[in-house]
Amino acid sequence: MLIERAYVNRSAEAVAESGDHWPWTVPCVRWLAEDGLKFGAPVTFLVGENGSGKSTLAEALAEGFGLDSYGGSAGYKYASSRAPSELGVAVRFDATAVGRRMIRGPRTRRRGFFLRAETAWDALARERLSGVPEAMSHGESFLMAFREKFRQPGLYVLDEPEAALSFTSCLELVGVLEELSRGGAQVICATHSPLLTALPGADIVEVGAHGMRSVAWEELALVDHWRRYLTDPRAYLRHIIG
Ligand SMILES: Nc1ncnc2c1ncn2[C@@H]1O[C@H](COP(=O)(O)OP(=O)(O)OP(=O)(O)O)[C@@H](O)[C@H]1O
Ligand SMILES: [Mg+2]
Repeated sequence: MLIERAYVNRSAEAVAESGDHWPWTVPCVRWLAEDGLKFGAPVTFLVGENGSGKSTLAEALAEGFGLDSYGGSAGYKYASSRAPSELGVAVRFDATAVGRRMIRGPRTRRRGFFLRAETAWDALARERLSGVPEAMSHGESFLMAFREKFRQPGLYVLDEPEAALSFTSCLELVGVLEELSRGGAQVICATHSPLLTALPGADIVEVGAHGMRSVAWEELALVDHWRRYLTDPRAYLRHIIG
């Protein structure tokens, strides 16, 4: 573990004052500002509906740790990197001794990777992976990149890494995440995948209008929907298709 809790270094008054504009209007961001977010396991999944704030949160945590907000490896600064977000600059961590050394030390001491959904492909391509044959498919090269880049103990913030992956490749990604966590790394992963979230021992935080709460995999709405959909797709589709 590297970080045990994330919080926002802003007075309650400052948060209340800026409460009328994004990102402070997002319920999970309010929650982070008011209560903070505890990390109880090396792997934490963020789940929730579209627009619930998973990416907003993931980006802020990555920025707070010092990972490039454009996405990519720690210590790798992109010429096109964006200005840090209002939330990202305010995020602070209660960290373990190892985590503190990474956060407080020079940028080069930081380890990890920020896989931002929109720039994942570009960020991985820019870092020129060794031995990725041109002929590889999108998903194949993603998986290869994960295997190659996700090795060192560090903070790995992943936003929907399942997007390009098949069922089998997702299973392999679970193996990569598990290995990372055993090696002392920490993973924070926004996802819609019932497969990834089944990783044993992982914490699952459901993000929504309520803010944030820990949920068991068996109780996740997305797991329930998938289970019922696969059992009888028509039960859902008859509401969609005339
Ligand atoms: N740069 C921005 N400026 C203003 N509002 C934004 C910005 N980025 C996101 N939002 C809004 O913040 C809310 C949370 O968005 P976010 O992208 O974090 O959701 P999400 O949980 O990642 O959704 P998804 O599952 O679709 O990826 C949404 O209402 C979105 O419209
Ligand atoms: Mg998102």
